[in-house]
Amino acid sequence: MIDAEGVVKRFGPRTILRGIDLRVETGETLVIIGGSGCGKSTFLKCVIGLHHPEDGKIIVDGIEVAKLKTEAEIADYRRRFGYLFQEGALFDSLTVWENVTFGLRYLTDIPPFRYRKIASDCLALVGLKDIEDFKPAELSGGMKKRVALARAIAAQPSYILYDEPTTGLDPIMSDVISDLILDLQKQLKVTAIVVTHDMKSAYKVASRIAMFHEGKVLEVAQPDSIKVSVHPCVRQFVDGKSEGPIKMKLKEFEAEPAANGLKNVW
Ligand SMILES: Nc1ncnc2c1ncn2[C@@H]1O[C@H](COP(=O)(O)OP(=O)(O)OP(=O)(O)O)[C@@H](O)[C@H]1O
Ligand SMILES: [Mg+2]
Repeated sequence: MIDAEGVVKRFGPRTILRGIDLRVETGETLVIIGGSGCGKSTFLKCVIGLHHPEDGKIIVDGIEVAKLKTEAEIADYRRRFGYLFQEGALFDSLTVWENVTFGLRYLTDIPPFRYRKIASDCLALVGLKDIEDFKPAELSGGMKKRVALARAIAAQPSYILYDEPTTGLDPIMSDVISDLILDLQKQLKVTAIVVTHDMKSAYKVASRIAMFHEGKVLEVAQPDSIKVSVHPCVRQFVDGKSEGPIKMKLKEFEAEPAANGLKNVW
């Protein structure tokens, strides 16, 4: 179980997370939705211990992340997780199969002679074959995403944190990946957090959906309830409307689209 209590995260003077309270029960898939820049990826990085919250705490299987001190303790903690980074984060100089199995030598006792077969098996799960010896530069964007996904599941983690698993994939492959997330949950009892903007995938994989807004959890509910939510921000987000309360308050680094559109540009 992942239990976040009052998590506050600041970068310099900017407060990104303002007290996130969220519990992910063992075996469930919790989907996080919310506007760009609202802190979804930051929250995942807090869970895995890449960022350290200024306040509040995150407890996983009874272990408080902030209290981990030694490298061995941190490695032991991270061993529980697979992490799909939003940007994929493949190593350019390594082949696909080396990327997929990169974590195994640090996270598992699996003997190296088995790595290549594990890589092929994980690649098959995400619909890829015969690319083991390619370098990332030789792959399309969607292929890179799926290689990163294969890497996230390679060590058979108990928890998987997926940061936008279907972004950049065609609709059919998005559905294949949603099915894979569901299979991992049902067959391997993986507990997962999925950050996504893809509402079709969200409704399909979620046990519950949490909406982040202005550094807090605005609403957390089952997909059917989110679909009919009356909260104006949630409504606007799930309906994908530009008009509504979310746009009323512009975030840092964001500008109101120019009233005259392109006329002022050319
Ligand atoms: N390492 C960092 N240092 C400073 N600021 C950061 C850092 N990481 C993220 N931020 C800031 O925190 C805010 C939230 O970023 P984050 O990546 O968590 O957003 P997000 O909700 O995942 O957005 P998106 O949907 O676009 O991926 C942004 O304003 C970003 O500039
Ligand atoms: Mg993000």
